[in-house]
Amino acid sequence: MTCGGTRRRILSVVGARPNFMKIAPLVREFARFPAEFEQCLVHTGQHYDPAMSASFFRDLGIPAPDVDLEIGSGSHAEQVGRTMIAFEKVVQARKPDWVVVVGDVNATCACAITAKKEHVRLAHIEAGLRSFDLDMPEEINRLVTDRLSDLLFTTDAIADGNLRREGVPAERIRRVGNIMIDTLEQQRERARALDPRRIVEAQSLPGLARSAWPALTDDAFGVVTLHRPSNVDDRAVLAPLIDLLLGEIAAAMPVVWPVHPRTRKQLEAFGLWAAIVACPAVILTAPLGYLEMLRLTMGARVMLTDSGGLQEECCVLGTPCLTLRQNTERPVTLREDGGVSVLVGNDPARVRTAFRAALAGKRAAHRPPLWDGHTAERIVACFRELA
Ligand code: UD1
Repeated sequence: MTCGGTRRRILSVVGARPNFMKIAPLVREFARFPAEFEQCLVHTGQHYDPAMSASFFRDLGIPAPDVDLEIGSGSHAEQVGRTMIAFEKVVQARKPDWVVVVGDVNATCACAITAKKEHVRLAHIEAGLRSFDLDMPEEINRLVTDRLSDLLFTTDAIADGNLRREGVPAERIRRVGNIMIDTLEQQRERARALDPRRIVEAQSLPGLARSAWPALTDDAFGVVTLHRPSNVDDRAVLAPLIDLLLGEIAAAMPVVWPVHPRTRKQLEAFGLWAAIVACPAVILTAPLGYLEMLRLTMGARVMLTDSGGLQEECCVLGTPCLTLRQNTERPVTLREDGGVSVLVGNDPARVRTAFRAALAGKRAAHRPPLWDGHTAERIVACFRELA
């Protein structure tokens, strides 16, 4: 893919793991109209480990990025600053008609600011989500990106309402549904064919392979993921959660935990890692690929997570989800709105109560309107109308 010629030039940006499943269906859909659009894919390189990045390109059939900015780790200012400096050169050289950003990571915000300062039109996919919590870096990224965007593609009516209240003109807002569910629907059958036990065997962390793995029968295991600074950066928060995991949750069922690099660093620094490794019912793995994670999510009896994307995937799959956060920018996934997710914060007593309730309850999938696997088609149709 290269930019150039008379067709409209679409420059799409990805940076971190949760972006890849959102961009895959979009790149594929734009490619169906080669006479109208030229695409250019930029990876900022915020996530760079093969398990956090390259495996998603392979599994989801995303073409290799045209440009890799190789930004890597750093403080927020370092990541955003380095991305802006590098992305500005790309925009100046490629001269796109549109820059398309997805989600709420540092790459999203950095490239949004840069695009607007270069007078390039900006589209944001997954606009209008609000946690109303400015302690979350993602909330800052969402606010800035939406304020600058010319086209705001939303997942649901609550997001539309948030944008309208902030004064975004109605004609810029297009409710198209959830593009991540396009990827889920496209990959569901491939994921279903995988065996959970094989997944954990293949992805076990170096030095943690076992001679016998517990059977991971559908509806009889749990999955944990944690990476948010509010959960993992403070020992006083993290240690009681680990006690609950090792004491009660792992006593009820085997638990698979794909460990985010940030979380592993913190568990080791806080002296909590050895106790987790020693617990036979907790299966620690490297960060999983998309298909592997989808397979475990569809089979899990319960999910404990602080990820926004998993909340949405659990909703459509019907997997009870305990969301270890005080708030969510995705209220449409909550039980009170018909979803499967319960906000439990990081207080072990609340997590315990909700865990017991989840075990006593039944699976029930919930599909919000337009979360139907056709969101990328609706987005590209908007661009075609704009001719
Ligand atoms: C980022 C996003 C978050 C998203 C999450 C998914 C922002 C502000 N946050 O958080 O919204 O839910 O990704 O994973 O953009 N690291 C590695 N290898 C990698 C990537 C990171 O070792 O491939 C390490 C870094 O050194 C750093 C830590 O993990 O210490 C955190 O990475 P960072 O990109 O800062 O943010 P995430 O916590 O992953």
